Amino acid sequence: MTRATAPGKIILFGEHAVVYGRPAIAAPVSQLRATAVVEDSLTPGIRLIAPDLNADVLLHEAPPDDPVAAVVLQLQTAAHLTHLPDLTITITSQIPVASGLGSGAAITAAVIRALAAHLGLTDLVSDEWVSNLTFEIEKIHHGTPSGIDNTVVAYERPVYFERIQPHNRIEPFAVAQPLRLLVADTGQSSSTKVVVGDVRRQWQAEPATFEAIFDGCGHIARAARQAIEAGDLAEVGRLMNDNHRLLQAMTVSSPALDGLVAAAQACGALGAKLSGAGRGGNMIALVTPERETAVRQALLRASARTVITTILTATSPNLENGI
Ligand code: PMV
Repeated sequence: MTRATAPGKIILFGEHAVVYGRPAIAAPVSQLRATAVVEDSLTPGIRLIAPDLNADVLLHEAPPDDPVAAVVLQLQTAAHLTHLPDLTITITSQIPVASGLGSGAAITAAVIRALAAHLGLTDLVSDEWVSNLTFEIEKIHHGTPSGIDNTVVAYERPVYFERIQPHNRIEPFAVAQPLRLLVADTGQSSSTKVVVGDVRRQWQAEPATFEAIFDGCGHIARAARQAIEAGDLAEVGRLMNDNHRLLQAMTVSSPALDGLVAAAQACGALGAKLSGAGRGGNMIALVTPERETAVRQALLRASARTVITTILTATSPNLENGI
């Protein structure tokens, strides 16, 4: 039996604009994880089980859009394997789906790691390889992913990311003061593919307006990196508020997200914004230790389904792999 996990993620700055080449900052949420378990099977074929989703299919009978089947086939191609043994692959996840926390990328990365380890492909597996394969799967689901989700989930460390051809700019950065972030869920699901597609249509209809908004997001992400590296948390918070306003201008916020952002800001959060594709899913609020409990309660009063704390620090489990 081989088991592997991968974390959820939040986008601190620059979602959507990152698809259009502007920099963005994202971080793993290590306490929310997707897990894949691969076992040898006595029955023929590869069985894919997701108990949370009541899913149980054989690979060769899976519908063409089955996300896990695509991962297995992609890995088989990438590893040049002509034959796969009889297996059972079981997937569970603590990451809410369609909520801006990167659940799809985490499930994909966990399956890749567990399957590759079970098949003894240790020479092939690096964080970069897992990230690249996960990106191929993200393309199937999202159309035009920037690459930030697969990067954060595979490397499991905070990154400053810029989508550049042919090689993305992926940089670790210093975190001078830990960032204490509350992650609050609206409980409303939202399709990244739909929201990203909608932003694209608006950009095509009003290119000058949207280019200016994306530029604004890019400036904010650059300034935010400097503020994080300098330990200027008040500035990081202000930049989060600015970024949320630009996301509102892109029409990717929602009454529920705006309500949570306003509640956090009114209760003394240093800053707050939606995180991920928007129109539902999660928002994040930067808090001091002194205000954490009060802001958490304000978020719950403002109808947050769940609120978790994640602390962004300079250290990360995968440092030795470098980027
Ligand atoms: O909704 P999520 O967690 O998949 O975040 C998507 C982030 C976007 O910038 C909106 C899209 C992308 O591919 O970067």
